[in-house]
Order: sequence, then structure tokens, then C-alpha cells
Amino acid sequence: MPRVPIESYTASTVTIGGREYIAFGGCNYLGLGNHPGVKAAVVRAMDRLGLTTSASRETSGNTVEHDLLEAELAAFLDFEAAVLMPEGYTANLALAQALGAEAGRGRTLAVIDQRSHRSIKDAVESAGFEVALYGHLDHADARAIIHRHPGRRIMLWTDGVFAADGSIAPLPELLACLRGPDDRLVVDDCHGLGVLGAPGPSGTPGTPGFPGTPGVPVRPGRGTIAYFGLRDRRLVWTSTLAKGLGCYGGAIAGMRAMIDAVRADAGIYKGTTPVPPVLAAACREALRVVDREPGLVESLARHVRRVRRSLADLGLGIEDSPSAVMTFVLDSPGKMRGLAASLMEAGIFVPLIDYPNGPAPLYFRLSVCAMHTDEQIEAMIRAMDQALAAPGVGLDAAGAKGA
Ligand SMILES: Cc1ncc(COP(=O)(O)O)c(C=O)c1O
Repeated sequence: MPRVPIESYTASTVTIGGREYIAFGGCNYLGLGNHPGVKAAVVRAMDRLGLTTSASRETSGNTVEHDLLEAELAAFLDFEAAVLMPEGYTANLALAQALGAEAGRGRTLAVIDQRSHRSIKDAVESAGFEVALYGHLDHADARAIIHRHPGRRIMLWTDGVFAADGSIAPLPELLACLRGPDDRLVVDDCHGLGVLGAPGPSGTPGTPGFPGTPGVPVRPGRGTIAYFGLRDRRLVWTSTLAKGLGCYGGAIAGMRAMIDAVRADAGIYKGTTPVPPVLAAACREALRVVDREPGLVESLARHVRRVRRSLADLGLGIEDSPSAVMTFVLDSPGKMRGLAASLMEAGIFVPLIDYPNGPAPLYFRLSVCAMHTDEQIEAMIRAMDQALAAPGVGLDAAGAKGA
């Protein structure tokens, strides 16, 4: 698909070719990339810190903002320690480099979901691990692969919420596949951070849609590990800071020894300039906003429930889930292009993409943001309903499939 040249953004709209569209794309799930408090934090830090450290953290490129963000992020996620990386992609690469040095590449088997994000695949391959793919979300397959490799150290690695189809990894079952204290379950939570772990009655562990562990509090927006209420020394977390937190950069969190190993052994950490300090300052503010304004996570959860229900009612095969990413296909590329064009005519932007690991070569990836208004959601559903009823687009019996 051609890239769309966006001229300006708000959390819920984009301007393309001089026209403003209500947007249901991207990953700015809480709208923090456009939050006044988060933007003000950039401006405040700019005078003091400028645009770049122009050097690696371990030489002369470290700032108080980086140190504080690491400490605050670890506390936010309830991990012992965290370390920042230039992006989410390099967070996975850095972790693979460190895990390889820690226990020896030859002894370790990397077991990854076949639809893992490309940064996970690239990380384990470029770090030189033997890699085994298990079926998408299929923890029984992961377990069977591990059984076939006795004596190996296991590094299970998965997206928490999958970028391309919005599905949620079965983390408790995957954790139960690990054998020894040296094994790891790495969760790339780029699309769970800020989204899952919802507060309020519907977020109580044990209630439908929010499994968790009864008795373990689910804290707002902490992501997929908190959603399942998991705590384990063998869990390692990676993420971008550019989606749910609306900023830029990446991070790894886990036990302190693991984080120390990343700082000591990951070339990609030592040899790169960190995220600009003004963005570290912005990200610190974004973490505070998630707790100070729990209504954001709540609105997102409410919008997700509403949009999923409405799209399911339109016959698009969307299932109930707390994930903010929904994908669907129609029975021909022509119909999908027709639907995308009708929506654009109605002032609604829903990306039709050919991004890897989705449910089909071409598919709609619709995402919801906390900052959408009820009216914007209503307008999208109305436009979708009308477009699907139009000749040439309309659904026939098995015309749509969700993911
Ligand atoms: C699951 C996942 N991991 C890693 C990344 C990379 O993060 P970044 O864009 O910060 O490099 C992305 C998306 O960009 C992603 O969706």
C-alpha cells in the first residue's frame, strides 16, 4: 500500500490533503502523544537539555531524565529494574544480545510465536540463537517443542498483544512451559502497555474478559503481564515507549541482574545515542498521567467494548476482547478497497494495510483511542454500516472474517 502523507495529527483525527478525517489507526492508544501535559514536559525540558545527548549513555550521554525514567518505569511495571533503548525494536535486539552472552547461544533454544513481531525474529536470529517457531497462540505446540529439546535452556519470546491482529498471548500457559530457573519468558508488550490491566469493576481479576489471578490487583494500563496477574523472576518485559505512552524510545524491564547484563553485554545499548532527553522527560510525565487520569484507560476500555460489539453486529467477525486492535478482511481485495474509499469519502480513515503477520495479505487494522468521542465512534460505525450495504462492497454470507 502507498504511504499516506499525513499533514497533522490530533489523538483522534488526521489531516490528509487538507481534509480532516476521524482516524481509527495507529497505536497512540491513550492519546498521550497529544496530551497537553506530556507535550508541556517536552517544552520544559528543552531549554535545559536540548535535542540530543549526542553520545552513548555509558560515555557522556546520560541524563537525570534517563535515570529517573528507568526507575519510574520499573516501579510502574513492578519490576526490579529497567533500562532504556533507542526504540522498541532495539530493545528486543539488545535483550537478545545480553541473553546470548548470559547463558551461551549454543545451549539456548529461542521458542517464538510464528506471528511474532519482526523485531523479535530479527533479534533472536541476529543474536545467533537456534530458533523454533510455534503456532500462533498455541501454547501446547510451544510445550511440545520444548519437550523435544531436553537439557536446553529455553527462551520463550512473544508479543503480549499482537500488533497485527490484536490477539492476546496466553502468558500463564507459556510461563508454565518453562523448566528451570535460567529459562525466560520475554513479553514484548508494545500493544498491551497502556491498554490492558484495566481498572474498575470490569478490571477485577477473575471476572470475564479480565482473567488475572484472583487476589492480585490489576493496575491501570500496566499491560499484558498485569492483565494476567503474573509475577515471576523469569519474566522479562520489552516495549516501545511510542505507542501507549505516546512518546518515543524503548525499554527492557526485569530482575536487576538481567538489566545489569543488558548494560554490560548489549552492543546496541553501549554503541547508540539514547532517546532524546526531552522525550525521556515526556515519558516520565506520560507514566504519571496514566495514574493521575485513570479515566483514560477506562474510556479506552469502554470504546473498545462498544466498537467491537458494533462491528460484530455488522457481521465483520470481530470477537470480544480488551485489545484495542481489531482486524478484518472482506472476501476480495476489490471490496476492501471499495470499503476504504467509501469510508474516506465519509471522512473516516481506517487503514487498509499489507503489513506482515496479519490475518491476510491485505486487511483492515482498526484501532481505538481513549480520546475518540462517542460521536466520532458513532460516525465511524454509521459510515461502515452504509458502506457495507453499498453495491460492490456489501457482505455476502461469509464475506467477512475477523482476526
Ligand atoms: C510488537 C512490536 N515490537 C516492537 C516494535 C518496534 O518499536 P519501535 O517502533 O519503538 O522501534 C513494534 C512497532 O513499532 C511492535 O509493534
